[in-house]
Amino acid sequence: MTNILKAPSAESEPSPPASPLLRFYRSSLGKKLITGATGLALAAFVLAHMVGNLLLLVSRDAYNAYARLVENLGVPFYAFELALLAVVLLHAAVGIEIFWRKRQARPAGYSTYQSAGGPSYQTISSRTMIVTGSVMAAFLVFHLRAFKFGPYYTTQLGGEPVRDLARLVIEDFHQLPYVVGYSVILLLLASHLRHGLWSALQSIGLLHRGLRPMAYGASAVLGSGIAIGFLLLPWAIYLGLVS
Ligand code: HEM
Repeated sequence: MTNILKAPSAESEPSPPASPLLRFYRSSLGKKLITGATGLALAAFVLAHMVGNLLLLVSRDAYNAYARLVENLGVPFYAFELALLAVVLLHAAVGIEIFWRKRQARPAGYSTYQSAGGPSYQTISSRTMIVTGSVMAAFLVFHLRAFKFGPYYTTQLGGEPVRDLARLVIEDFHQLPYVVGYSVILLLLASHLRHGLWSALQSIGLLHRGLRPMAYGASAVLGSGIAIGFLLLPWAIYLGLVS
């Protein structure tokens, strides 16, 4: 008689219970909270980044001094960059999961959106979040290659050698394809923020029902404001207003 050793089956050994953190991540509520909180953190970064960029409208030195100040922070700066990367990846991963879940739950052929009473907040922005988000993720790879990991020019600032980021940005935005490409991306960013901002506030429970219309309008204004703030620099450079 042959002695057959059976591999332990999934039935005989139940898998260990998922940790509370994993269960939170897997739940619908957890996913909404994660996309909401990471989305708001990214919006805060984008706003700060836009304001920092405007320094190049003041002078090359002001811009380079700002970049050096940030880089001289050392370890806290590198920790911030790592955290930013983690937040971007988490936001994208959970966003994609939510999109797939909604798609699978939708009956086949369902293509029109109807409000279940009350004002509908379905817009072209809300329906294209996956598209605008994906394009921006691809843009980020291009953007970091062009600037962060782009040519390393140096200049003197207060008698010290520093990276001449101002020169790099000015060189790039003297080219029309860059300016037009950034303009398209910033239009998509405005659309993503228009829906993302108020929806994030709603997801993390900060929106009282009565405040919804106001938050909805404020998101559109802030989203467009951030995009316009970013756009000032490429166009000012291209039109020869920054040298
Ligand atoms: C006209 C528009 C923009 C300009 C001129 C610009 C410029 C720059 C520059 C020069 C850097 C490199 C900074 C350094 O190495 O110290 C940078 C980094 C970065 N930019 Fe932009 N940027 C623009 C728009 C955007 C937008 C729309 C986003 C996001 C949607 C974005 C996200 C980032 C990120 C994540 C980094 C890396 C930050 C870090 O590692 O510290 N940028 N940008």
